[in-house]
Amino acid sequence: MTTPHIEAPAGAFAETVLMPGDPLRARYIAERFLTDPEQVTAVRNMYGYTGSWRGQRLSVMGSGMGIPSCSIYASELIDHYGVKRIVRIGTCGATVADLNLGDLVLALGASTDSNVNRTRFGGYDLAAIAAWPLARSLAEAAEQLHRPIRVGNVFSTDLFYSPQADLIPMLSRAGILGIEMEAAGLYTAAAERGAQAAALLTVSDHLISGARMSSDERQRGLDQMIEVALTAIA
Ligand code: HPA
Repeated sequence: MTTPHIEAPAGAFAETVLMPGDPLRARYIAERFLTDPEQVTAVRNMYGYTGSWRGQRLSVMGSGMGIPSCSIYASELIDHYGVKRIVRIGTCGATVADLNLGDLVLALGASTDSNVNRTRFGGYDLAAIAAWPLARSLAEAAEQLHRPIRVGNVFSTDLFYSPQADLIPMLSRAGILGIEMEAAGLYTAAAERGAQAAALLTVSDHLISGARMSSDERQRGLDQMIEVALTAIA
């Protein structure tokens, strides 16, 4: 069985998929956290793996960067491989002063400058929200592991390099916690298909103070975020 972007046999994916942006992170997660991981797809080097975690079948696959890439993989996983739950694990740039590098953000809602949700929704504004059962499990897992988590709205941008000088103060005034590039598209792609999605993000850089994580800190943050995600879906 193949789709335009995934070459894997029917049934190759578990019902739950962890989805980092970077395919090499998908490989890292599979090799480090899954039992008996098997690579199931590698089209365009967008690696996908299936294995198990504490006896539960689990897949991990990269999404690439941005709403178009993430929407393609999420749609094909749900439509053709029976995936029912997607947990994006990624990073965000903080847009409020009281978040610190390494903090966890649960994107309960995802605002966006992208037009994709209006295109999908007859020109109206759709509130892209995380699936509550997944969001609740992620928040509870963070609490259980004593990892502080902020739950709220994020901004999924099409433009990493925005020309809009007052973007960050505007987002901050609206209570947006951070900027990333996928959640608003992922949430709608999943919702339209009756699947669940949620995004758990580590603050990797601070767009007010200018602080940035070192690569060591990024790795530690990634490991802690994966532990929360794995605990949540167990
Ligand atoms: N912008 C968009 N996406 C991001 C950022 C950012 O500053 N940081 C991490 N992901």
